[in-house]
Amino acid sequence: MEHRIVFATGNEGKMREVRLIMADLGMEILSMKEAGADPDIVEDGKTFGENAEIKARAVWEQTGGIVMADDSGLVIDYLGGEPGVYSARYMGEDTSYEIKNRALIDRLAGVEGQDRSARFVCNIAAVLPDGQVVHTEETMEGLIAMEPAGDGGFGYDPILYLPEYGKTSAEITIEEKNKISHRGKALEAMKDRLKEIFREETVR
Ligand code: IMP
Repeated sequence: MEHRIVFATGNEGKMREVRLIMADLGMEILSMKEAGADPDIVEDGKTFGENAEIKARAVWEQTGGIVMADDSGLVIDYLGGEPGVYSARYMGEDTSYEIKNRALIDRLAGVEGQDRSARFVCNIAAVLPDGQVVHTEETMEGLIAMEPAGDGGFGYDPILYLPEYGKTSAEITIEEKNKISHRGKALEAMKDRLKEIFREETVR
């Protein structure tokens, strides 16, 4: 089996989180840049899973081996799942999250309680050396806050209220968030899947 995993992202913060969580696999974790890959990626999937696989496969075509990628976003039930796979592009890539967050809160004016249910979703795809793909998907459940709160985190964190904490995702610490976040849990689940796959390979 391979001794390294390439993670298809250009985001250094994401790489740090991935390296931390995957450390006990005992494998080298490279960014796509470190692996020398620079593919043109068109994320035109309809689901988080499709987009994660599109990214992982585009890098895998250039590197082979094991390549992982993630795709995530905010899903608001009352808005039929918006912004969903368009989370980064919602109202335009260059629009500030202050404006995007305000706009989403305004679209939920008059909506109360559980009808404000929403979640962050993260799907991780891993393309294996033989081209097969495995996925994990996890969520962080909450409600759209009545007002944005907190300056930790990024993106939509200030408007996802977590009832069990009595705080938004931007008000909890990064350590707390990594433990319960959609991405943290999906990465942990992928680590377990890969361990199983490696175990089956050594038994065979
Ligand atoms: P990507 O998976 O890196 O493409 O991220 C998609 C988008 O979803 C981000 O740009 C954010 O708008 C949103 N998003 C994903 N995860 C989070 C999170 O943990 N907090 C806040 N926003 C998030």
